[in-house]
Amino acid sequence: MAIDSTLSSTPKILIVGAGPSGLTLALSLLRNGVPVRIIEKTTHPRIGQRGAGLMPRSFEVFGLLGIADKVIARGRSIMKLRLWKMPGGVEVLKEMDMQTDTDPTPSIPYPNMRLCGQNNLDAIMQAELKEYGVSVEHGVRLDSFKQFPDHVQVKLSKQKLSTEELEHEDTSYDYVVGCDGAKGVVRKLLGLTFLGQTTEENFVVGDMKLEGLSDDRWHHWGDISDIFTGIRPTEDTGVFNFIIGGTKFENHAEVAANDEVLKSFIEEHTGNQKDMKIKEFITYGHYRTNIRMVNKFWEGRVFVAGDAAHIHSPTGGQGLNTGVQDAFNLGWKLSLVTKGLSPASLLDTYNEERLPVVAEMLNITTGILNATRAAPTGDDAWKRTGALKQLGVNYRWSSIIVDEPKERLAQEGKPHCATSAYYVEVGGEVQAGDRAPDAMALARPSRREGTTSLFKIFDASRHTVLIFSDRIEGYQPFLSLVKAYPSELVRPILITSAGKGFSTDCDVFVDEEGHAQDAYRGPECTSGVFVIRPDGVVGARVGNVDKLVRYFKGVFRG
Ligand SMILES: Cc1cc2nc3c(=O)[nH]c(=O)nc-3n(C[C@H](O)[C@H](O)[C@H](O)COP(=O)(O)OP(=O)(O)OC[C@H]3O[C@@H](n4cnc5c(N)ncnc54)[C@H](O)[C@@H]3O)c2cc1C
Ligand SMILES: *[C@@H]1O[C@H](CO)[C@@H](O)[C@H](O)[C@H]1NC(C)=O
Ligand SMILES: *[C@@H]1O[C@H](CO)[C@@H](O)[C@H](O)[C@H]1NC(C)=O
Repeated sequence: MAIDSTLSSTPKILIVGAGPSGLTLALSLLRNGVPVRIIEKTTHPRIGQRGAGLMPRSFEVFGLLGIADKVIARGRSIMKLRLWKMPGGVEVLKEMDMQTDTDPTPSIPYPNMRLCGQNNLDAIMQAELKEYGVSVEHGVRLDSFKQFPDHVQVKLSKQKLSTEELEHEDTSYDYVVGCDGAKGVVRKLLGLTFLGQTTEENFVVGDMKLEGLSDDRWHHWGDISDIFTGIRPTEDTGVFNFIIGGTKFENHAEVAANDEVLKSFIEEHTGNQKDMKIKEFITYGHYRTNIRMVNKFWEGRVFVAGDAAHIHSPTGGQGLNTGVQDAFNLGWKLSLVTKGLSPASLLDTYNEERLPVVAEMLNITTGILNATRAAPTGDDAWKRTGALKQLGVNYRWSSIIVDEPKERLAQEGKPHCATSAYYVEVGGEVQAGDRAPDAMALARPSRREGTTSLFKIFDASRHTVLIFSDRIEGYQPFLSLVKAYPSELVRPILITSAGKGFSTDCDVFVDEEGHAQDAYRGPECTSGVFVIRPDGVVGARVGNVDKLVRYFKGVFRG
């Protein structure tokens, strides 16, 4: 992409921490033409896989940020789980699928969880940042900040090259976002609570180079009620990720103390597999599970996202993915407010929308942890399906959402029951607040170009208004309203049934196979206007121009 001249102006937003949350936020802001500064206290790029399980909804975000194909190409699909029989550990107890890979559908192009180590994901995201002329500033740490009504004053320190000395910098920003992980300072300085529990589970986790173990299986010895060792092949040939844990893993500190002890522990616990040779350790560390979240995601002009706001048991693989969703929810709102196009109150909805989702995520992952403890080799402990794909995460209750059919039902005394924030049936009726589904096989009326899909039309830097209509009279009132907004803010798209395409002064797509109708069919197909937010969420579902006005008034200024 071309480097926008506005991107070289002085950033008004500081992102603290360059993990997946900080990098997603930076990409989202840059895509919106908002300059950012992103600092990272470590002096080197991330080493090690850490959270490698990427969920379908994360791929949809990566798609909107233009990096989905790269992440898919760099990673690998999930392999079968192989449980080895204990004691001994040399006979196979059973093998099972953690996920039954399904084929893409017209509305779900990325149906499966995939693996890509965090080190490799970070590298892809950092390379993408460079395309916008922005680099992560490594070796720069946020020490403290002070809030004022119109800015945040920050104190940073920077490791000077070739000396131990620190260089100090005092500067100010309009907004600061703490993507500084579970141990970060931003949450603490804001005085947010981080309530929850520290569980008894201790883990030693890391990456190693290893030979003689099949790399098409995720190997597991032992279980959580005792001691377990998991060894997972990665997308990098010869590199395996390992995790050792369990309630009887009492000498964890000792095991993590040095390479020799760790090596013999793993070899012994995995039954001294005949051909298995640990060549070297790339990285490892000692962890304890915490299950905690903030009471709120912001205070004044400072926000938190990702692990800085929530941590949980590694069961379920939701942590990184949830941080990506936090950042993507905040990115477009912060962009509009920074540009003066939306009132600052839009930022309140970041907390309003994410807090219930994260609370439910914590409950779900704790439930899996409990199931794992209760039946360590049972299917429930291992399946990574359903809600965990995050396609059912929704904001149906949000104050900026407008859903006309539901309002009408409520007026008739038939209110919709409250549903889960984490899981609504995917493929069912799309309501405002839900993930906006994809639809393939959309053609231009001229049929000159090939077909495209909604996910290629949606845009992380503006709203897209899908107007389903086969008649000019049907779409004209909506189109006139949408056109009152600058096209950089809102893009109208007219979708007609097959054979009904016509040329007008707006973007028209013919729904050749009816996929868009299928995915978005409302309770009444005629009330066919859907506003898709820049984060790929349905902001409004309306059949009436006044309701569309209400949505825009809730989001934009003036
Ligand atoms: C062993 C393990 C396995 C996991 N498995 C999974 C999984 O399968 N799926 C999943 O979704 N998640 C998993 N997770 C969780 C996942 O790693 C985290 O949720 C994810 O890294 C959070 O990303 P983040 O960007 O919010 O924070 P982080 O990745 O922690 O990044 C925060 C960054 O901020 C920097 N920083 C901190 N303080 C400052 C400061 N003052 N100034 C400047 N920079 C600062 C840090 O150096 C760090 O780079 C796992 C975690 C662990 C430890
Ligand atoms: C998990 O187990 C703990 C302790 O037994 C219990 O307090 C908690 O309610 C359980 N949570 C879920 C979600 O199952
Ligand atoms: C938490 O999870 C448990 C089961 O794991 C479920 O019974 C309970 O309803 C959930 N609570 C909330 C608030 O979602």
